[in-house]
Amino acid sequence: MTDTVKPGTGLRNVVAGESSICSIDGERGVLAYRGIDIHALAEQSTFEEVVFLLHRGRLPNRAELAAFVQELARERSVPAAAIALLRLFPAAAHPMTSLRTVVSALGALDPDAGDETLPANSRKALRLTAQMASLVAAIERVRRGKELLVPDPSLSHAANFLYMLRGEPPAPAAVRAMDVALILHADHEFNASTFAARVAASTLADMHGAIAAALATLKGPLHGGANEAVMNMLEEIGSPERAEAWVRDALAAKKKIMGFGHAVYRTEDPRATHLRRMSRQLGEAQGDRRWYDLSEKIEGLVRAQKKLYANVDFYSASVYHTLGIATDLFTPVFAVSRIAGWTAHVLEQLTNNRLIRPESEYTGPRDVTYVPMNQR
Ligand SMILES: CC(C)(COP(=O)(O)OP(=O)(O)OC[C@H]1O[C@@H](n2cnc3c(N)ncnc32)[C@H](O)[C@@H]1OP(=O)(O)O)[C@@H](O)C(=O)NCCC(=O)NCCS
Repeated sequence: MTDTVKPGTGLRNVVAGESSICSIDGERGVLAYRGIDIHALAEQSTFEEVVFLLHRGRLPNRAELAAFVQELARERSVPAAAIALLRLFPAAAHPMTSLRTVVSALGALDPDAGDETLPANSRKALRLTAQMASLVAAIERVRRGKELLVPDPSLSHAANFLYMLRGEPPAPAAVRAMDVALILHADHEFNASTFAARVAASTLADMHGAIAAALATLKGPLHGGANEAVMNMLEEIGSPERAEAWVRDALAAKKKIMGFGHAVYRTEDPRATHLRRMSRQLGEAQGDRRWYDLSEKIEGLVRAQKKLYANVDFYSASVYHTLGIATDLFTPVFAVSRIAGWTAHVLEQLTNNRLIRPESEYTGPRDVTYVPMNQR
């Protein structure tokens, strides 16, 4: 018998493996990708540069970044068979269900399918990172009966995503907001979906299978699904005047308020700092601070009454809503970013692999006699 973890703690504070991709200091509210502070990246970087950083371990020089941007842009198209599959789903299907399924199908359609060498997996990682945005845009347009748009290689990843989703050239402020949101969500060490991807990869399952496992895990409202749940909550509350009673009743009923609390942070989630500012700025630019004002009111109440901080999902809800994104696409948008981290983790796992296989503490009965059917 090995060391046991206290039952019911959900592996909190357990170091489950080594990684040089991302670090979090939950007490001080510090997040860094490859040692670079998230605030510097949010203020100065781009999503493409962050993907290079996560996948290749260092910042690119100017020429490397230019080549990488083109490489990613070249991989944006999605096979026709994947789009045909999307057309089979009912329009009411949750986009995360569609996304998870079509990513799994891409495993059969990928030009490197069946090749499990490291170079092939690196190509799959890049391709999936580029394709995730096109897939989410395709899911949205197919379910609404709209024509699909061809990716525009002259646009950045963030700009092209908004263009393919909404069908019109996005304004610079919207592009920057999306780019920063993509940077902020790109990785978060051993969060539930990344850990699921690493467990799958550790069996030497294929890259697309590992990412399908991550997508299945991200969907839950305790993880990536929280951003969608936050928007539903904001719409249910409706106005700042109704917030106080709503929060009090929810806490009295021991309900979880979506977008608050975190398994690791004991202070402000550094990603929330940027998303809060972006929510305010986007609202002001559109002359509609309604969702920001309501969010700020709820944040104050939850802080005062339950001492909980807003997490990444709280203000991303009003940011995405203000960008004109449908509420049930919020978690797929999270995946458009997190694919960068998931694939980096799968590559890291494969580079130095050992099957991830913990043990459970058995709490059932022992030495139970088998009773034959006719004696039960
Ligand atoms: C993220 C989350 C799962 C972390 O959970 P955790 O580390 O297991 O923390 P716990 O659930 O043990 O919470 C500790 C205490 O805070 C409370 N709490 C935590 N998050 C809460 C929330 N969002 N609303 C109300 N109470 C909350 C718990 O009920 C518990 O209270 P208690 O000690 O009185 O029983 C949890 O905070 C949560 O469910 N948040 C809402 C969903 C969400 O926003 N998820 C996205 C995370 S980025």
